[in-house]
Amino acid sequence: MPSYSPFQLTVKYCSHYLFAANGKGHGTHSPFVYDFIRNVLNDKKDLDVYRKIESLRKRLLRSDAVAEVEDFGAGATTRPALRSVSSITARAAKSPKLAQLLFRIARYYRSRYIIELGASLGISTAYLASADPQSTVITGEGSKNIASLAMDHFKELGLTNISMTTGNFDDTLTYMAGILPSIDLAFIDGNHRETPTLGYFNQLLPRMSSSSIMIFDDIHWSKEMESAWTRIKDHPSVMTTIDLFFMGIIFFRPDFKAKQHFTIRY
Ligand SMILES: C[S@@+](CC[C@H](N)C(=O)[O-])C[C@H]1O[C@@H](n2cnc3c(N)ncnc32)[C@H](O)[C@@H]1O
Repeated sequence: MPSYSPFQLTVKYCSHYLFAANGKGHGTHSPFVYDFIRNVLNDKKDLDVYRKIESLRKRLLRSDAVAEVEDFGAGATTRPALRSVSSITARAAKSPKLAQLLFRIARYYRSRYIIELGASLGISTAYLASADPQSTVITGEGSKNIASLAMDHFKELGLTNISMTTGNFDDTLTYMAGILPSIDLAFIDGNHRETPTLGYFNQLLPRMSSSSIMIFDDIHWSKEMESAWTRIKDHPSVMTTIDLFFMGIIFFRPDFKAKQHFTIRY
């Protein structure tokens, strides 16, 4: 199923922007979500670690290297194709704003064991792993050449707490999740289709605890992703959700009487 057109996405984003809570936390009745907005979402501090990873991103955006890439996930073609590193970086890597939010979520909630589906060139992985050098990050990437470049980037950034698993998530997810004693944070950023997304959610669910967090990328990218997001929100074990348009965050904390869904401008 195709993604929404740029025009449809713009209309959707404008509607999100108009109707979402203002991102300051005023009127948010949940103390937990208020705390998240104040201390995580709106933490505007500029950190050295951001600069370090962003200078890698800048270099990749200027690079004239090419890599043979096997396509995985939504929009995949069948044959490997030559792609420029700069276009992969521009298209696949989370924006600085969202990648730095991932860093802050991992740091604020002290995520010790992290799993990521979809490393690409390793920008979001680097942010997740930089939140705490004592944490363990297991990341997965289907394309071998891309995974190998990502590992070079981790080395260059001095990150030694990342383990890369190469292959299709269908074959690797059980192994990846099994390496970790528990999962504090899962970031799902690959294969933006409904059935696989729900499959990853269901496969990871038994490893989640009440303090675990799951983050899904591009929840409004297509009708399929919106449907997956709705079904995930409705799952009985999901207690609180935050829709930031480009990302959906779910919490399993049981301390609310009813589910709570928040749509927040970010
Ligand atoms: C959007 S990119 C990830 C970007 C990265 N998280 C970042 O922000 O820097 C998604 C990646 O997931 C990989 N992918 C998609 N579907 C996959 C699958 N079924 N198995 C393995 N890898 C997959 C793609 O090869 C692609 O590199």
